[in-house]
Amino acid sequence: MIYTKSPDEIVGMRAACRLTAEFLKTVGENVTPGRTTKELENIAAKKLKSLGVKSAFLGYRGYPGILCISVNEVVIHGIPSQQNLKEGDIVGLDVGVKYNGFYGDMARTFPVGKISAEAEKLLKISEEALYNAIKSCKAGCRVGDISSAIQTTAEKNGFSVVRDFTGHGIGRNLHEDPPLPNYGKAGIGARIPENSCLAIEVMLNQGDWRVKILDDNWTVETIDKKLSAHFEHTVLVKKEGCEILTEIIKM
Ligand code: CO
Repeated sequence: MIYTKSPDEIVGMRAACRLTAEFLKTVGENVTPGRTTKELENIAAKKLKSLGVKSAFLGYRGYPGILCISVNEVVIHGIPSQQNLKEGDIVGLDVGVKYNGFYGDMARTFPVGKISAEAEKLLKISEEALYNAIKSCKAGCRVGDISSAIQTTAEKNGFSVVRDFTGHGIGRNLHEDPPLPNYGKAGIGARIPENSCLAIEVMLNQGDWRVKILDDNWTVETIDKKLSAHFEHTVLVKKEGCEILTEIIKM
């Protein structure tokens, strides 16, 4: 069942999501060649303290980090480690916070220094797919409208969409109904009610859409080791369109 949010709950979601955006902005500014992903995790730990919020991911189903840091062929759920970032890498940072009973969730893939033209294009189209998905969504639309906007943008640009993971509803829980696949047909699926909140997650691959989970039980990688990008916003669905709750701070 898709929960609709009361006016008070909307105030709570706005606050949690603004803090989520501020959190990602700080961590993102520290994506530079030579840093390990564990160093980013340490920066994140300090920032969480200063914001007075909790990580939504740490301990979630046993997840061992504050951040998900997904480098190059890693699609999502990369665990912070001693891996060094190097010029030319792309780094997906996925952050979630819990504040005052409400969750915010967002992700963005950052370039490390100068990256290849192909990698640039993957980032640009993935972000575009997220914004097209957001534009396709208003009260009364269907899940398939969002899915189709993502898939169409990806495929007409030669990229493939991940099928094994989805976006999701969000609110007093990190994951609520409905699941939001990155593929599907417009006009079908559950209707999205006014004042519901969604975490729309775009995951695009440069090559094959198929992915595998590594032995750590978390890290998701492309099966062909080609690049993958992840962009996510939490939005509030209104009559006339979406309010992007995690976009208060422009990046
Ligand atoms: Co999410």
